[in-house]
Amino acid sequence: MNVVFIAGSHRANSNSERAARLLAGRLETVVPGAVTEVISLHDDRLPFWNSDFGEPSPRFVAAWKPIEASLIAADAVVCVTPEWAGMAGPALKNFLLMPTKGQIAHKPGLIVAVSTGTGGAYPVAELKMSGTKNSHLCWIPDSLVLRHVGELFPAVEAAWANGADHDVARRIDFTLVMLTEYAAALATMRKTSRIDYSHFPNGL
Ligand SMILES: Cc1cc2nc3c(=O)[nH]c(=O)nc-3n(C[C@H](O)[C@H](O)[C@H](O)COP(=O)(O)O)c2cc1C
Repeated sequence: MNVVFIAGSHRANSNSERAARLLAGRLETVVPGAVTEVISLHDDRLPFWNSDFGEPSPRFVAAWKPIEASLIAADAVVCVTPEWAGMAGPALKNFLLMPTKGQIAHKPGLIVAVSTGTGGAYPVAELKMSGTKNSHLCWIPDSLVLRHVGELFPAVEAAWANGADHDVARRIDFTLVMLTEYAAALATMRKTSRIDYSHFPNGL
């Protein structure tokens, strides 16, 4: 099972990327056979979508094609976003404009929001109502809000290392396993012959 993690911060060495790497490593531990890849959108890795995206223009081919290939091979997608000014990260929203050719359609998506403070709820709400209409990505009901990550990440890593009980560490494990259960279930959905992208490429 392949799971792609999109780290949606613009910043190099961001906490979103750190969260993505932490969760990706943990997924490979709790789900035997899982293979993960982390794609960070820092430093303008993906140009802002423009009308030449679909032509396709050279700048988008270079930036998008490797990511697209990973998405096509994925069984599930994890979108990790910072909370910035109460919003999901713009790089992640830009990313969600692009996979509209069935690359992530009817695959489960997990939202992970990251905050150094008490934020994180707003990006979950924002993403749950957007980003899936034309990509057909299926957000699973469970999400993760990782708060006070400066203290949380070391505590979670320590809990995993020494087997100590930690509520967020347990919640992360549970949610990652749920994601892979949805991945197995939705594989059946993607095999149905009733999906008609030629007439109904976009939702709603
Ligand atoms: C422009 C900007 C706006 C931010 N706004 C919020 C916010 O609204 N709520 C919040 O909890 N944290 C906010 N933060 C702090 C982030 O939680 C923090 O940067 C965290 O590490 C996630 O971003 P990162 O993935 O880029 O590291 C903001 C940070 C930046 C740079």
